[in-house]
Amino acid sequence: MRQLKSARESQSRNPERPESYTVRVAPTKESILFSPRSVLVTGGAGFIGSNYLRYVVPRYPETRFVNLDALTYAGNLGNLTAIESADNYSFVRGDITDATLVASLFASHAFDAVVHFAAESHVDRSILDPTAFVTTNVHGTLVLLQAARDAWKSTSLPVRFHHISTDEVFGSLGYEGEFRVDTPYNPRSPYAASKAAADHLVRAFGTTYDFPYVLTNTSNNYGPFQFPEKLIPLVLRNAASRLPIPIYGKGENVRDWLFVEDHCEALDTVLRRAPLQSTYLIGGSEEVSNIDLVHQLLSLFDELAGRNEEPSTDLITFVSDRPGHDFRYALDSTPIRDDLGWTPRHDLKSGLRKTVAWYLENQEWLDGILNQEYLSYYDTQYSERG
Ligand code: NAD
Ligand code: TYD
Repeated sequence: MRQLKSARESQSRNPERPESYTVRVAPTKESILFSPRSVLVTGGAGFIGSNYLRYVVPRYPETRFVNLDALTYAGNLGNLTAIESADNYSFVRGDITDATLVASLFASHAFDAVVHFAAESHVDRSILDPTAFVTTNVHGTLVLLQAARDAWKSTSLPVRFHHISTDEVFGSLGYEGEFRVDTPYNPRSPYAASKAAADHLVRAFGTTYDFPYVLTNTSNNYGPFQFPEKLIPLVLRNAASRLPIPIYGKGENVRDWLFVEDHCEALDTVLRRAPLQSTYLIGGSEEVSNIDLVHQLLSLFDELAGRNEEPSTDLITFVSDRPGHDFRYALDSTPIRDDLGWTPRHDLKSGLRKTVAWYLENQEWLDGILNQEYLSYYDTQYSERG
């Protein structure tokens, strides 16, 4: 990795990196440190990956984006119609655990960046069966890391691997405090444990092979094209179909919500401007309990749907709690704001309004998802909850 190292040293790496994996080198807000020409995006047919591709493909016409996605239940090419015929975009259906395929893509596309979204991403599914979470999130990440390391070992060009992770790796907070980059990991669900393992692998590659990564941990995203297994789209789907709206426990758990388009802008900023081997936490600084969130969401739904009948909040049903339910997440996003000048453009109110309007206008998209797989998942997840 010697030549790789010298290439990367020109990318503002801090030679005095402390033992902690936090690198606090402040690049100037205007400086563009890295401008990739050929990017492998994994999981680009999912919720955040598709929002990211719709953001970057038109914005960087000189850069080629290859979307590698297995199209699991969560992947949907219907999320990408806006960019599917762009000259700088192509799609490959395949699995990130397929080392032969991944190596051949590196050989044919000469990627200088990987933006790695592909994952099993739903906590409740990980409780039902963790197997796919370890296969995709841990083994799949290892396959990508090895392919990138091998492809880049003798390059003299700047290259980087952006690993997308979650705040859930840090565990659960009480009423006070925030996660910081140096908060010890304490994953408590199979999903969080698999993401934590992947994060550790990425950083271990950094330490052992001087591998050029950047890593981001993000809070709960919401917005257009989110699969209706997660809280916000599930509430909107059930409200539209006049079904009970399940709230786990007493609805007191707190999440920090980030509008997905703001997340995509933050990811683009980090890929281009963050120092190598750095971690940034990306939060919306919009903490709210689940029950308060659902009340806000349903009153917006009634307003925008023009409903004058009984309020949708009447559909709220308290059901048995998620096992090991993390109480609260909150992130200290000061470093990304101070170092890189990113700040979310949407507060919770404006983001929720856009989201409700989008789901109301895109019933067809939603209908396409409500297939047998979804209905049988829904039945398994909710029929026993009482
Ligand atoms: P998602 O479940 O909507 O999409 C995942 C995508 O990955 C799908 O298109 C799926 O087909 C694809 N995929 C799954 N397994 C694959 C495999 N083996 N090979 C290739 N493709 C595969 O997920 P999301 O909500 O868009 O999350 C994207 C990333 O962001 C994940 O890594 C997740 O852990 C992380 N994240 C999500 C949130 C959130 O609120 N959604 C918050 C923090 C971090
Ligand atoms: P979710 O969207 O699954 O995201 P995460 O578990 O990654 O935070 O859930 C958000 C919160 O909403 C979480 O505290 C669990 C809760 N929840 C419900 O109360 N009812 C539901 O039907 C779902 C899916 C989630």
